[in-house]
Amino acid sequence: MPYAPRPAPSPVVAALVAAGVITRDDRVVDLGCGTGTDAVALARWGVRSVTGVDKDRRALAAARRRAKAARVARHVSFVHGDVTRLGDAFQARSFDVALDTLLANNLRADEIEAYARGVSRILARGGLLVVQERVHRWAHESEGKDVLPMPPLLARFDFGSTVTTAVPEAPLGLRDPHFARVAVSVGRNRA
Ligand SMILES: C[S@@+](CC[C@H](N)C(=O)[O-])C[C@H]1O[C@@H](n2cnc3c(N)ncnc32)[C@H](O)[C@@H]1O
Repeated sequence: MPYAPRPAPSPVVAALVAAGVITRDDRVVDLGCGTGTDAVALARWGVRSVTGVDKDRRALAAARRRAKAARVARHVSFVHGDVTRLGDAFQARSFDVALDTLLANNLRADEIEAYARGVSRILARGGLLVVQERVHRWAHESEGKDVLPMPPLLARFDFGSTVTTAVPEAPLGLRDPHFARVAVSVGRNRA
């Protein structure tokens, strides 16, 4: 699906930095980073090692330009890859924090299991997974009830409460941001 950039970083990511939960020494991976809104914001906020992954080369090129314009290119790298094959791109325990902002809701149900297994593998034991998902994506598979985060993630991470809010996004062809209703969950890697 074509993707237009989100105009502002995720409030949940900002809050975790402000609270000192994500620290400058963490190795952060932004899964499905798109044009790098969150990845570049993290670098601007002082995180020294941020890696964005996406399968869309045009989005990655825009993310690199964004990092350069923000003068943080030394701290952010953008990698072309498929989040359902994370083990091909990264070694086990390579990261302390993984971001999934509006990513997993793009994956087919049969891809989520491989994705969840890969995230757990590349994150440190006890590493943090931040999930910000569209609400309703899974309703048809769960008898009308949302199950968020998705069950394969719930099986591998200890999550706290899931809360819902909205984030701005800019649909293609529209200049002003609209708002996506999202569920936010933060979990620790059990493996
Ligand atoms: C809605 S955008 C969200 C981008 C960014 N995280 C944000 O919050 O603005 C979803 C992104 O996930 C990427 N994506 C979808 N499936 C993917 C996959 N299997 N592997 C890597 N990236 C994927 C898309 O290319 C797109 O850039």
